[in-house]
Amino acid sequence: MISGVLERYKDFLPVNSNTPLISIGEGDTPLVKSSHLGNKIGCRSLFFKLEGCNPTGSFKDRGMVVAVAKAIEKGFDSIACASTGNTSASAAAYGAHCGLRTTLIVPKGNVARGKLAQAVAYGAHIAMVDGSFDDALEIVQELCDKHSIELVNSINPNRIEGQKTAAFEIIDDLGDAPDALFIPVGNAGNITAYWKGFKEFFDIGRSSILPVLNGYQALGAAPIVNGAPVADPKTVASAIRIGNPASWQSAVRARDESNGVIAAVSDEEILSAYRLVAEYEGIFCEPASAASIAGLLKQVEDGADYSEKIIVCVLTGNGLKDPDVANEIVPASLGEYKAELGSVEQALTKS
Ligand code: F0G
Repeated sequence: MISGVLERYKDFLPVNSNTPLISIGEGDTPLVKSSHLGNKIGCRSLFFKLEGCNPTGSFKDRGMVVAVAKAIEKGFDSIACASTGNTSASAAAYGAHCGLRTTLIVPKGNVARGKLAQAVAYGAHIAMVDGSFDDALEIVQELCDKHSIELVNSINPNRIEGQKTAAFEIIDDLGDAPDALFIPVGNAGNITAYWKGFKEFFDIGRSSILPVLNGYQALGAAPIVNGAPVADPKTVASAIRIGNPASWQSAVRARDESNGVIAAVSDEEILSAYRLVAEYEGIFCEPASAASIAGLLKQVEDGADYSEKIIVCVLTGNGLKDPDVANEIVPASLGEYKAELGSVEQALTKS
């Protein structure tokens, strides 16, 4: 039997006797020790938190399960969100699981193919708008204010509550908090959630240190780094193509309280990290997730010494969500050969 985030962490979540303990198996994701990349960059204790192993393939499920359970508790039969793809896939899955009507507002042409396929398969009502994620978020807030629909974007505090459980798991797995955490930043809910989780376990003595949080935005979508909203955010990492993050202030607090940074990595750096983690570790994450590794590589290049530190990179989503990027950037090695041993052997000696 599965025990999801609500059951496992109910003492730390807004759960009462009226909260349905729903689950489709979210949480309890692997913390995998680096096999090659860490040694290559002189960082012996590098770990990856594989959030792509959640039921819909991203970390969103941790927060969504809490937001949906609370929506049901409050009597809603309808939920809605704006999304660059993963939040919508997750909302649609939990909506389907619980028999709710799910409405998704997504920016047209800005959602990776796999994520849209999920939302369609789960039977959500999808409105593609001719605008950015930030436009979609404004519209969905108005929609939920006007109608009896629960908003399940991360401005819903129950989402942050659920997402903080990833920090709990890291502490439970390592026996303490890591020295530093690297994490992609888009709408800035997740960095906020991790910081909350790390602080809560520290406060009750489950960890002896607080980690330094290092958040990474994409260079063309880096409002927090620039200190101003970006009207037309651009990056290959569509999940974090966000110009005006909803949790901006709390992300800045997480950065400052943890003595960390929120900085930017270019698309080239993101794609290079995306390939490295696949080729050296056997881990296929989505481009936005690779921003965490790109950030670590950049810091090491700039002289940071992590040789004796315990580092966790959060890999927020599964690479299968965005197959087009992989197919576009990896040089074609898909030769076609006659279906006989001889020609296949010849092909192998060439490569
Ligand atoms: N990584 C992935 C794979 C994401 O989908 C997101 C956000 C982030 C990182 C950034 O997390 O927003 O909490 O700072 N995706 C949202 C969505 C915006 O709609 O799916 P954040």
